[in-house]
This record gives sequence, C-alpha cells and structure tokens, in this order.
Amino acid sequence: MKKTILVTGGAGFIGSHVVRRLVNRYPEYTIINYDKLTYAGNLENLSDVDQKPNYIFVKGDILDGDKLKEVFSQYTISGVIHLAAESHVDRSLHNPDEFAITNVIGTIRLLQAAKNAWNGNWEGKRFYHISTDEVYGSVEHGKFFTEETPIDPQSPYSSSKASSDHFVKAYGNSYKMPVVISRCSNNYGPNHFPEKLIPLMIHNILQKKPLPVYGKGENVRDWLFVEDHAAAIDTIFHKGKTGEVYNIGGNNEWKNIDLVYFLCKLMDSKLKRSEGESAKLITFVTDRPGHDLRYAIDATKLMTQLGWRPSVTFEQGLEKTVDWYLSNQEWLNHVTSGAYQQYYQNMYHNR
Ligand code: NAD
Ligand code: DAU
Repeated sequence: MKKTILVTGGAGFIGSHVVRRLVNRYPEYTIINYDKLTYAGNLENLSDVDQKPNYIFVKGDILDGDKLKEVFSQYTISGVIHLAAESHVDRSLHNPDEFAITNVIGTIRLLQAAKNAWNGNWEGKRFYHISTDEVYGSVEHGKFFTEETPIDPQSPYSSSKASSDHFVKAYGNSYKMPVVISRCSNNYGPNHFPEKLIPLMIHNILQKKPLPVYGKGENVRDWLFVEDHAAAIDTIFHKGKTGEVYNIGGNNEWKNIDLVYFLCKLMDSKLKRSEGESAKLITFVTDRPGHDLRYAIDATKLMTQLGWRPSVTFEQGLEKTVDWYLSNQEWLNHVTSGAYQQYYQNMYHNR
C-alpha cells in the first residue's frame, strides 16, 4: 500500500537509521525527512539513500507552523514519526529554555499541523511520538520501568520530553487523534554524535585524549543498538495499538565505568595498542548535576504483543560501532571541527 510518511529529525542519529530502514524496506512509500539541521543534524548520515526516488528532504523547523502547513498541503501525509528534538542532557542543563521551546512547543506545532491537515478524518492516520525512558526518572536496583511507571523526569531534557508526551496524549484524548508513543533506553551505533558517552569515548581514545567519566562511573544505563531501535519503531508504527505506550530496551545494563573499560579493551585490540593503554586515559571528573543513577527498561509488552526482539548482542553491536567509526574517521573529523571544539572546551574544561 502506498503511504507518505513525514519523519522529523531524520538527519540525526536515530532518525537517519529510521529513514534508511523505511526508504529501503518500503519502496512503495514516500519518506519525507523534515529536519532543521541543527548541530546534530547531518545529511552525510543519509548519503547512501538520498538519491532514492522514494526519499525527499525538506529543510524545516518544527516550530515553523507555516512551513509545516505547506508540507502537509503539498503531500498527502498519512503518518508522522516524530524524532526531532534537542537530545543531550548536559546541554539541557545549560539551556533549559531551548529544550522547552524545541521539544514542547515544537511538538505542539507539529501536532497542530497534523490535526489541521487531517481535519478530523483520522482513518488510516497515525502520529507516532518518539520518547525516552528518561521520562520515568531513575529506578532503584532490581526494579524496571514498565509502561505503568509514573512519569518522574529529573533533568530539563527529560522534563521537556515528558511534557511533550503529555501533549501527544492530550491530542489523542481531546481530539481523538490516533497517537502512539514509545520510550526507549540509551542507543548506540554508527552516526552517533560525539557529545554522547560511547562516541565521545571512541573519539577521545582515537585522539589519545582523557576519557571523562562523570562522578565515580557508577551510573547504570541500558544500551540498545540503534538499528534495533529503528526496527522497533518500524514495528510499532505498523502494528502498535492506537493510544498505547511501548517501552523499548535491550535488557543490557552496564555501569558506565565497566562499559568504558570494555570499550578501551576493544579499541586497544582494533588499534593494535597494548592492552590497558587506552584505559590509562580514564579520568574521573565532576559529576553531572542531578545525575540519574539507573535506567532499566522492561520491554515485555513490545516483545510479547508485537513480536519485536533485539537482533544483536552488545558485544556484536559495539564491535560494529567501533568498526564504523574506524572506517568513517572523515565523518568524525567533520562533526568535531568548528563548533564542537568550543562545546568541548565549555563542557569539559576545569570539570
Ligand atoms: P539527535 O540529537 O542526534 O538528532 C536530533 C535531530 O533533530 C537532528 O537531526 C536535528 O537537526 C533535528 N532537530 C532539532 N531541532 C529541530 C527543529 N526545531 N526542527 C526540526 N528538526 C530539528 O537525536 P537522537 O539521539 O537521534 O534522538 C532522536 C529522538 O529520539 C529524540 O526525540 C530523543 O529524545 C529520542 N531518544 C533518543 C535516545 C538516544 O539514546 N539517543 C533514546 C531514546 C529516545
Ligand atoms: O535513556 C535514553 C537517553 O539516553 C536519551 O533520551 C538521550 O537523548 C540520550 O542522550 C541518552 O541520555 P544519557 O544522559 O543517558 O546519555 P549520555 O551518553 O549523555 O550519558 C550516558 C552516561 O554516561 C550517563 O550516565 C552520563 C555518563 N557520561 C556521559 C558523558 C557524555 C560520562 O560519564 N561522561 C561523559 O563525557
């Protein structure tokens, strides 16, 4: 069946994997990538699919209601997959208002544009909002976030995402818009911007620069390979029940310090360095304020009701990731030149 899907934030890390998957798997669909191209958006991420006839790029801001209206009237869009957001917790601590504007107001503008275009004709329509496990806050050891866990965000980033989730639900409840939400754990993989833990460590190991571990490195994250998140998004978009929330996670918990040691060992072997060489770069730095101790997702609902499963182990996924960065050092050089240098200096100098 022909469909036109609007993907927001398709030039970012997860969005580019979603766009690639949809463009390749569904040649009968038209995939519109609507992205403002902030520091995190990079069209190089899609160079392997951007010439395909079913792919369209539109440079646009989700805050720009007129541009959204134009796109909805130019194309017969039946589905929206909304990933565009400010996504980095550390940046949100410095610029909370920017996160509220993009993540909350931007989501409302997008909801409103879809509502106006669909005009109450909900048949065959779907608005899919990509959220995060961080909206649940931190969870004590031995417990897991389920879809029933109360929302309890702790950072400006997670507060903005939680607020956008509520607006999406409100459009479902108040106007009967067919909405669906998923909340995923930490992703890793190719094209990950090196402000986040794993790609930042890979970049610094390559450069033999200090590896800044926040606090004592005791915080726990549940890591999922980005292509498995893209597969889950595909599954939920096509098979998820309207009005539902689905958790997505890899059941793969790592303390930050253990993960960094594991990565150092893998990179030493890939770079033919002696074992232990990269781990010497580990430097404990001032903790992130309000740092959530542990995230852990229970993805039973998605697995039992929709049949999704992660396809790779963490060891396989991390090796694929490191191999990708080693063969794409030009990509890394592009994204770390210019503004990144200033960002790194501001964030890590004297930390
Ligand atoms: P990212 O920062 O890599 O990409 C964000 C993309 O959104 C970029 O391409 C950027 O240009 C675009 N964008 C930002 N503001 C925009 C605006 N105003 N208008 C249009 N486009 C705009 O983010 P990511 O890590 O790929 O995350 C994508 C989504 O998934 C986010 O909503 C995030 O909250 C969610 N999420 C991320 C993770 C993770 O581990 N990275 C986990 C769970 C959920
Ligand atoms: O859980 C899903 C979330 O995962 C997404 O919603 C966010 O968009 C995404 O950025 C990610 O948030 P985190 O804050 O968990 O990811 P980050 O890579 O920034 O940090 C992972 C852990 O590593 C966290 O405990 C902080 C720590 N850390 C991070 C950086 C950048 C360090 O110790 N040193 C660092 O330099």
